[in-house]
Formats: sequence, structure tokens, C-alpha cells
Amino acid sequence: MYQKTPWFLKQLKFTGAGADANEIRTERLLLRPLRYRDAKDFYEYAKDEQVARYVLWDAHTSLNQTKAILRSQMMQCRQEGLLTMAITMKETRRMVGTIGLVNRDWDNHTAEVGFSLARAVWGQGLMTEALTAYLRFIFDQNIIHRIEALHDVDNPASGKVMKKAGMKEEGLLKERIYYKMRYASVRLYAAIRDEWLRENAAR
Ligand SMILES: CC(C)(COP(=O)(O)OP(=O)(O)OC[C@H]1O[C@@H](n2cnc3c(N)ncnc32)[C@H](O)[C@@H]1OP(=O)(O)O)[C@@H](O)C(=O)NCCC(=O)NCCS
Repeated sequence: MYQKTPWFLKQLKFTGAGADANEIRTERLLLRPLRYRDAKDFYEYAKDEQVARYVLWDAHTSLNQTKAILRSQMMQCRQEGLLTMAITMKETRRMVGTIGLVNRDWDNHTAEVGFSLARAVWGQGLMTEALTAYLRFIFDQNIIHRIEALHDVDNPASGKVMKKAGMKEEGLLKERIYYKMRYASVRLYAAIRDEWLRENAAR
């Protein structure tokens, strides 16, 4: 059974950046905790209106704003156990995106995953690679039973990533989210721990 209280956060030791236990390695990526020095790379892609188009945050307008957002994300990550990670390219070490938990529901052992990637590296299968590895990382720790993800119906690429990472579509939530001055209909995807681990054992 899953623990009801977040005591196990202490066991995760998700604070010492660089420690192997906090890193996820894939063929092309290294996922690791956010660092203050990611600000420049973060700003480079977060200022892009296209990247911000279907996420709840707005495009960043200055490096200073990115620094403040980074600081608050790092703090929120620690306080709320969001396990937010920088997605970096193994080859160049550059940060090209983030992936992490949002809306964590401690009582029901569920959480929503959110992700974004720099436009320069879209369309290479990188987010599918990152999300698949991230789901395994979370499920291997046996602390979360169900992970959900939502995407705007106008952003089908995101749904494709969820599906290719082994999540299953559960339905359409009509005009569920108000953002960017409109009500957006979203598709709900989910992965259940045991089922996902069984079905994705060979990946
Ligand atoms: C959505 C996003 C995460 C996709 O990342 P990515 O690394 O480019 O995705 P992948 O390359 O792993 O896969 C994308 C898939 O969507 C497909 N795709 C791309 N544009 C599409 C479109 N308009 N309609 C349908 N499918 C589309 C691609 O063909 C690919 O599928 P394939 O491998 O079967 O060909 C990335 O574009 C992004 O970060 N966007 C900005 C932030 C964002 O929208 N985050 C998600 C919020 S829910």
C-alpha cells in the first residue's frame, strides 16, 4: 500500500543535484534536478511564444524573470515533492526542457505530469524518450499509483507523446481549462503503475 503522508520525500533525497539517484539517463538525454545555472538555457526557449502556446505559463519576457521562476520552481519542487527535472542533451549538456509533477494529490497517490521542450529540438522523439523514462523513474519508486496528463485538443503532438510513452486516453473534458483568454477542451491520459510497468517492461 502507498503511504498517505509525504514522509518518504525525505527518503527520495531529491535535493543533492548531481547525485546518480536523482538522474535519469536515456539514449540521448540526461534528466536531473533543476539548477540555478540553468536560467540562461531555460530563458532561451521559454521566451518562445510557440513553446508557451499550450502551457499554463506565459512566455518569459526577461532573463531576470526566468531566474525568479526557476528559483520558485526549485522551492516548490522541494516543498511539494514535484520531482521536477531539467531535460538536458547528453552531448551538449544544454537544458532543453523540463518535466515534472503538477497538482500532486497525496491522499490518492496520484499526480499530473507536465512537460515542455525547446522548439529547436521538437520532432525528434525527445519528449517521448523523456516521458517514458520519467514514468519509469516515478513508478520504480512505488510512491505514486496513477499519473495523469492533460493536453489541449489543439495540441495533438502532446497527446501523441503521452500515447507513445504508454499512457492511455481516458476521455475528452470539454472546455475544462480557462487559459490564454479562452476555455480549452482537453484530453485526459493516464498511466496506472502496475499496468504501465507490465506493458512497458521491454522498453
Ligand atoms: C508537445 C511537445 C512536448 C512534443 O515534443 P517532441 O519531442 O517534439 O515530441 P516527439 O518528437 O516525441 O513526438 C511528437 C509526435 O507528435 C507528432 N506531431 C507533431 N505535430 C503534430 C500535429 N500537429 N498533429 C499530430 N501529431 C503531431 C509527431 O509526428 C510525433 O509523432 P511520430 O513520432 O509518430 O511522428 C513539444 O512540441 C513541446 O514541448 N511543445 C511546447 C510545450 C507543450 O505544448 N507541452 C505540452 C503541454 S500539454
